[in-house]
Amino acid sequence: MDTSDAERLPADHSSAAETPSSSLARPGPDVGAPEAAAVDAYVEQAVVRPGPEFAAVQRRAEEGGLPAIEVSAAQGKHLELMVRISGARQVLEVGTLAGFSTLWMARALDDDGGIVTCEVESHHAAVARSNLDAAGVGEKVDIRLGSAEQTLQSLVEEVRTGAREPFDLVFLDADKAGNPRYLELVMEMVRPGTVIIGDNVVRDGGVLEADSDDPDIQGIRRFLTMQGEHPRLEATAVQTVGAKSWDGFSLAVVTRG
Ligand code: DHB
Ligand code: MG
Repeated sequence: MDTSDAERLPADHSSAAETPSSSLARPGPDVGAPEAAAVDAYVEQAVVRPGPEFAAVQRRAEEGGLPAIEVSAAQGKHLELMVRISGARQVLEVGTLAGFSTLWMARALDDDGGIVTCEVESHHAAVARSNLDAAGVGEKVDIRLGSAEQTLQSLVEEVRTGAREPFDLVFLDADKAGNPRYLELVMEMVRPGTVIIGDNVVRDGGVLEADSDDPDIQGIRRFLTMQGEHPRLEATAVQTVGAKSWDGFSLAVVTRG
């Protein structure tokens, strides 16, 4: 048989011996790449291998009625690795939810490191508090309850007065309409080398809708443009598919003080 045509055909995955299922994913909508969620489950099993503390976080989130909008396990591990690769000691997160991404990042920190995480919903903050305490990282995590803008303003003041060091890594994952303002404030408490990551910058392609009346889309568009234009940042955005649909992260590094 002439195999040259067969070799050009895409691999047939439909007869795969395994159909991985995730012990963790709380899936987003199908994005027309039905295997993407299965690949995420495979990656989770093969390489991420989350400990039982992550399933416990999701269980309490579910029981508490929190929305299933946390990052996937593969994305959480990616955040952990960004903290490790950057050698970050002081991490800032905006948008705690149940503390799932917080826990991934906290695992990467030595005892002298810490995370400040901002949450506006007191119920979410309470669920996160018990999750992070139960997972054994509670002492590393300072959950600040209140509007992100106000919390960031007080953190700017703490850094300005020397009461705290600048942040080494920042993860923005709250309301996307607020991202432009959050980025402005974040830029007042970073140093050259600080890494800034933004979640959900693609939104099923919604980021293309220049005339959108969705404040989150407009927030993401402005947030990306600000990073592209910023004299102190080098930045990109990387699209993702998987258990959390079609979305993406922005990634930036601060180049100057
Ligand atoms: C939403 C928010 C998120 O941070 C996310 O990762 C997915 C969805 C939302 O508000 O719909
Ligand atoms: Mg998000």
